[in-house]
Amino acid sequence: MMKPTLLVLALAATHAAAQRPANTSVCDYYTTALLKDNNATNQEALVTLVVNTAVIGNFTPNKLNILVPGILAQNQTYNGSSVNLAAYFDGSLASTNNGGGAGVSVNFLDDGGATPLTKGKPSNGNTSDQYKLLTHLYEYFGILLGCSQYGKPGYPAYAGDISMYSVHKYMALDPYDFGYFVQQVALSAASFGVAEADLEYVGGALGNLFGHRCSAATSIAPGEAATLQVICITAPNATCSLYANVEDPKFANGSASSTQHASGTSAPAATSSTKNGAGVAKTMCGSLMVLFAMGTAYWLS
Ligand code: HEM
Ligand SMILES: *[C@@H]1O[C@H](CO)[C@@H](O)[C@H](O)[C@H]1NC(C)=O
Ligand SMILES: *[C@@H]1O[C@H](CO)[C@@H](O)[C@H](O)[C@H]1NC(C)=O
Ligand SMILES: *[C@@H]1O[C@H](CO)[C@@H](O)[C@H](O)[C@H]1NC(C)=O
Ligand SMILES: *[C@@H]1O[C@H](CO)[C@@H](O)[C@H](O)[C@H]1NC(C)=O
Ligand SMILES: *[C@@H]1O[C@H](CO)[C@@H](O)[C@H](O)[C@H]1NC(C)=O
Ligand SMILES: *[C@@H]1O[C@H](CO)[C@@H](O)[C@H](O)[C@H]1NC(C)=O
Ligand SMILES: *[C@@H]1O[C@H](CO)[C@@H](O)[C@H](O)[C@H]1NC(C)=O
Repeated sequence: MMKPTLLVLALAATHAAAQRPANTSVCDYYTTALLKDNNATNQEALVTLVVNTAVIGNFTPNKLNILVPGILAQNQTYNGSSVNLAAYFDGSLASTNNGGGAGVSVNFLDDGGATPLTKGKPSNGNTSDQYKLLTHLYEYFGILLGCSQYGKPGYPAYAGDISMYSVHKYMALDPYDFGYFVQQVALSAASFGVAEADLEYVGGALGNLFGHRCSAATSIAPGEAATLQVICITAPNATCSLYANVEDPKFANGSASSTQHASGTSAPAATSSTKNGAGVAKTMCGSLMVLFAMGTAYWLS
């Protein structure tokens, strides 16, 4: 695997590159532009760098001077509402779905935390929850970014749960949580020179796939069964009865977590949540998509 620093420099250098042709995926285009050999190893290296930077924030200087706070940064805001996603990753909240019908606390920073990520790795070892989560993210974003070598030798296929709704079910994520996460992915990509048009394209796709509450079941990877995918649990053509009630996760010690989010507007009865205040339901996820890339705010959808 190429050293992250080299990759970053290579990426930044291509900032002024030509426009991506319509018949080439974002993954293939930037892998070719930056690493020349558009093979499985290089595609995974590129996605790894984007995911690692989105998760922990910038760890190498970038010529474009774009600050990426990171998904794990505490006390952040998104569209004026506070966001603290670290609590979902460090075991503070009983919010992961282990199939037992309630949220469970898991520390996903159990194998080196941020340090191995700065070295282009998922974790120190390869048996931890951190290893599993990060490698699953590299694989899944290979699908989302259209990597042509995904699933071939050198770029393992996704081995996690194919229903993003199921994975994130007990997190009770709201539009600000979701928007912040997507924004970090966009900022990370922007910091490496990914063109604005491509950021909008990917951000819009993430919003459409995962950000319309009550969307019908769909498949993400080719050939995969259709499952529920909404992460931020208002949608055109909503079938809200498919989705369970949304309840805030408890703290790992079992006590109720009181959260900090702004109120939403009215929404279908099937998905009311206490997270935005008693009985106030979660609203549209996708229309909140604000991507601050290169000093510009985009409103998608
Ligand atoms: C576009 C948005 C997102 C995508 C595509 C995405 C994708 C994924 C994927 C592929 C996994 C691995 C699932 C598995 O191993 O079976 C995962 C796990 C996880 N995600 Fe997300 N995610 C998104 C947004 C969020 C947000 C907003 C949060 C907020 C905290 C979040 C928190 C987590 C956590 C804590 C896990 C570990 C859960 C577990 O393994 O049980 N994700 N996500
Ligand atoms: C994309 O289209 C161009 C011409 O418009 C063609 O030269 C190129 O081979 C195509 N690339 C792929 C990967 O199909
Ligand atoms: C991809 O190309 C790089 C050189 O750019 C090489 O080191 C690596 O082994 C190649 N990977 C595969 C799967 O061929
Ligand atoms: C986040 O905010 C809390 C409460 O205001 C504070 O105790 C904590 O130190 C802050 N954390 C960081 C990293 O700034
Ligand atoms: C986001 O913030 C702007 C400005 O404060 C506000 O007008 C807009 O309604 C907010 N969007 C949502 C969905 O809360
Ligand atoms: C995991 O790490 C061990 C020890 O470093 C190594 O022998 C093994 O091949 C690794 N397994 C995978 C799947 O990378
Ligand atoms: C919702 O349903 C209408 C009529 O069936 C269809 O025209 C429209 O494209 C659908 N919208 C979405 C976002 O699926
Ligand atoms: C449970 O943990 C939370 C968060 O760390 C803390 O605020 C709360 O006081 C704890 N409750 C009990 C009963 O220990």
